[in-house]
Amino acid sequence: MRQPLIMGNWKMNGSLESAQSLCSAIMEGLNADDMGVAVCAPYVYLSTLQVLTSSSTLSVGAQNVADQASGAYTGEISATMLKEMGCAYALVGHSERRSYYGDTDETVADRFCEAQKEGIIPVLCIGETLAEREANETFNVVNRQLDAVIEKAGIGALENAVIAYEPVWAIGTGVTASDEQAQEVHKAIRARIAAKNTVIADKIQILYGGSMKPANAKGLLAMADIDGGLIGGASLDATSFLEIYRSI
Ligand code: PGA
Repeated sequence: MRQPLIMGNWKMNGSLESAQSLCSAIMEGLNADDMGVAVCAPYVYLSTLQVLTSSSTLSVGAQNVADQASGAYTGEISATMLKEMGCAYALVGHSERRSYYGDTDETVADRFCEAQKEGIIPVLCIGETLAEREANETFNVVNRQLDAVIEKAGIGALENAVIAYEPVWAIGTGVTASDEQAQEVHKAIRARIAAKNTVIADKIQILYGGSMKPANAKGLLAMADIDGGLIGGASLDATSFLEIYRSI
C-alpha cells in the first residue's frame, strides 16, 4: 500500500505574512499522526517555514532547484542550500518552468540528480499540452519526459522520487482531467517503470496535478494509480487544502 501524498504548490503567490498564516492554518488542521502532507513555498519563505514547521508533520518543499551544485550561476538556488532550509522535496520540471523558463528534459534530469545528491526528494512533473493530447501524443510526451530522467539518473533513482502527472491543459484552468483520463496516464507511467523495475513501480507515488479541488479530489484520489495530488490554486486556502487531504 502506497502512502498518499498531498502537496501544495504555492507558486509565486503571497507575502511573508500570508505564507506564515497559511502554514499555521494548515498545521492547526493536522493531527500529530497526519503524514503525507507538504507545501512547496517560494524560496524566500523557506527558512521561515522551516522554523514554523519544526514540530509538525507538515513537510516543506521548494518549487525548483538548480541543475548545478554551486558556482557562478547568478539567481540560482542549489540543492545544498535547500537542504539547509529543511526542504524534504523539490519540484523539478513543472510545466511553468518548462514553458516560461526554458527547462528541457535534460536540465530537468540534472535538477532531479542535484536534489537527490542532497537527499531531497525530487517531484518530477510531467504532462502533455492540449495540442499534444489532441494529436494523440500524450503517452509519447510523458514517456519522453520520464525516460530522460531514467537515462540520466538510472531506474534505481526512482526509489527516492515522486512523479506528478500534470496535464498542462488542466493547470490553473479549472478544467480537470476526468478520473478515468488521469488514471489511464498514471497506469501507463507505472507500467513504463514496471518494465524496468516492478518493485519501484509498485512503490513510487504518482500524484495528479491540474485544478484539483475539494469537489473533484475524492474521485481522482480513489483511482488505483493516483497516490495523491499536487495542488496549486486550492492549496492557497487552508480549508480547501485540508479538505483535499481529508478526502483521501
Ligand atoms: P492548479 O496548479 O491546481 O492551480 O491547477 C497545479 C500545479 O501547477 O501544480
